[in-house]
Amino acid sequence: MYDRVTVFDTTLRDGEQSPGVRLSTDEKLEIGRALVDLGVNVIEAGFPVSSPGDFDAVRTLARELDGVQVCALTRARKADIDVAGEALSAAEDPRIHTGLGVSDNHLHYKLKMSRAEALETGVSAVRHAKRYTDNIEYFMEDSGRADREYVFRVVEAVIDAGATTINVPDTTGYMYPGEYRSLIESIRESVPNIDKAVLSCHCHNDLGMATANTLAGVLGGARQVEVAINGIGERAGNTALEEVAMALVIRRDLFEVETDINPGLLTGVSQLVSRLTGMMVQRNKAVVGANAFSHSSGIHQDGVLKDRSTYEIMAPESVGAEKSEIVLTARSGRHGLRHRLAQMGFDFTEERFEEIYEKFVTMADGKREVGAEDLRQLVAS
Ligand code: KIV
Ligand code: ZN
Repeated sequence: MYDRVTVFDTTLRDGEQSPGVRLSTDEKLEIGRALVDLGVNVIEAGFPVSSPGDFDAVRTLARELDGVQVCALTRARKADIDVAGEALSAAEDPRIHTGLGVSDNHLHYKLKMSRAEALETGVSAVRHAKRYTDNIEYFMEDSGRADREYVFRVVEAVIDAGATTINVPDTTGYMYPGEYRSLIESIRESVPNIDKAVLSCHCHNDLGMATANTLAGVLGGARQVEVAINGIGERAGNTALEEVAMALVIRRDLFEVETDINPGLLTGVSQLVSRLTGMMVQRNKAVVGANAFSHSSGIHQDGVLKDRSTYEIMAPESVGAEKSEIVLTARSGRHGLRHRLAQMGFDFTEERFEEIYEKFVTMADGKREVGAEDLRQLVAS
């Protein structure tokens, strides 16, 4: 029996912080319902004190969504926590996500607090949040650049105050997988009361490491992942839910954990979030990109047509995508061309096929892709 990893989705909070994105309450609710069907365990619905719109969205999702924990973000301030508590009042299982920075950089430039003051502020915030729920997550912003001994002290103190999940954000996307894993491991080894809380990975993608760092955190013993659909979020984004979910399925042999995610719904949810946020998914995006199951070179097409496993480690249908696609380009070969012609109902003698193939090669050299209409013209000529 494998451990379960809690999937905490922050598409509607950190994801919505993507420059240029604004979701209405109705749109958040539509995405929220899709996330529940997908199997996420916690939905971070917004930052209620930040605007009336965010308050309304959190309150609406808290009221309407069942079978999921609805979470609201706050700074480590009583006023923020009170507003979040009110917005979450109708939730089946409300979670308050509070905290503040732990790196000397954030303490000095942003918070203008000493380490001791920040620690005390964090502890008071957790105690205050307990008025509203026992389900309290504490974030240590910029953990990735913080002094570990201080991080250990903060973790111990906020768990003592009542935090049940400890979020270890690599806020600036600065870390590499080995470092992030070792940070999680060292917290588990050094904090005496760590058995009373779940450690959570929250990674940003500034150096393209968000997914790798999150998975490294899971290997290090974290049992919650904070992710966003399509990896949207501040700057270069958050860890992509679909990438982590599929890595944990495809490499279960390595990670030995399970989630409640239904992979067959990933492509649909990705398209919904892309449509409502206006953020296009890059064609070569892992798992949900338009090219994720397309094969264009002759060598790959030949392999995939002989046996899909030669170049695909997951079936497109397993993530709700349409079947694998053979895309004809100047790099394609006879096997791919014959396959596409057969799909269109054509069957030629070897001699005739060779004639068509020669024409195809000439045509493909001048085009990005040879489509069905091009093939019809080739055959007709
Ligand atoms: O990246 C970060 O540190 C955050 C926290 C507010 C959780 O998003
Ligand atoms: Zn973040």
